[in-house]
Amino acid sequence: MEIINRRARMASLTRKLRRENKTVGFVPTMGALHEGHFSLVREARQMCDVVIVSLFVNPTQFNQSDDFKKYPRDLTADAALLTEYQVDYIFAPDTTEIYGENFSTYVYVENLTESLEGASRPGHFRGVATVVTILFNTIRPDFAFFGQKDAQQVAVIKRLTQDLGFDTEIVVASTVREESGLAMSSRNSLLSEEERRAAAIIYKALREAKLAVKEGERSAGRLAEIVRSKIMSEPLAQIDYVSVVNSETLAPVGKIEENAVLIAVAARFGNTRLIDNMVINKRL
Ligand code: PAF
Repeated sequence: MEIINRRARMASLTRKLRRENKTVGFVPTMGALHEGHFSLVREARQMCDVVIVSLFVNPTQFNQSDDFKKYPRDLTADAALLTEYQVDYIFAPDTTEIYGENFSTYVYVENLTESLEGASRPGHFRGVATVVTILFNTIRPDFAFFGQKDAQQVAVIKRLTQDLGFDTEIVVASTVREESGLAMSSRNSLLSEEERRAAAIIYKALREAKLAVKEGERSAGRLAEIVRSKIMSEPLAQIDYVSVVNSETLAPVGKIEENAVLIAVAARFGNTRLIDNMVINKRL
């Protein structure tokens, strides 16, 4: 496993791999790796000749400087963990390698980025879309791997991949959960023990909604209400949003029918904001 810091070196290496007809799998991350990331790496390892993982805490996707500052970082620990997953290259650039002097070009994906996380974190998806574009341009992967937990991010990246003509297939892996049901996230490390226990309520609430659909509930409004009231039963939880939307367009839906619907949740436990979701349709 080699750690690469320079964008030019990463680009020339992947150019060589393409000439050798090797398939390149890319797992973009911001580090603070957990089982959710490792499941993406395992999938990449199975599908591709060469696996590249990026570790880069992207400043432009944080709309609060405090959130950026306190985001967990430990390159040495992350690199050590990745050796166990037969990763070929780690790409760990400095901020100046990605955002050079006088950097002025941003990628803005319309329509999909104004609601949900976009509404709560203005500018977040502009930062994500910009860094993913730079990383895809540098690496030009055959496959790129993302987690379903960040469902809106997946929708945004699929859109930009298609719109900007990247020859990269987006592979989406299921959310990995702790035993309590809490979705794995780098932010979980910021929760106190009590908050971590309390945060399991999100998955319980999503499961209650799923059960309601199984029992015949078709109203998106009532499903959102089921999720909201279950989460509110936990005194440490503060809901940011509960939305029921089309999983591709992210447009609000009124009724659960054949199309895949996303029940998306964001909630705070203490100072830590967590997101999770469940995809359903009337057949579940
Ligand atoms: O999901 C993440 O960790 C980040 O948003 C990503 C895709 C690595 C871009 O910085």
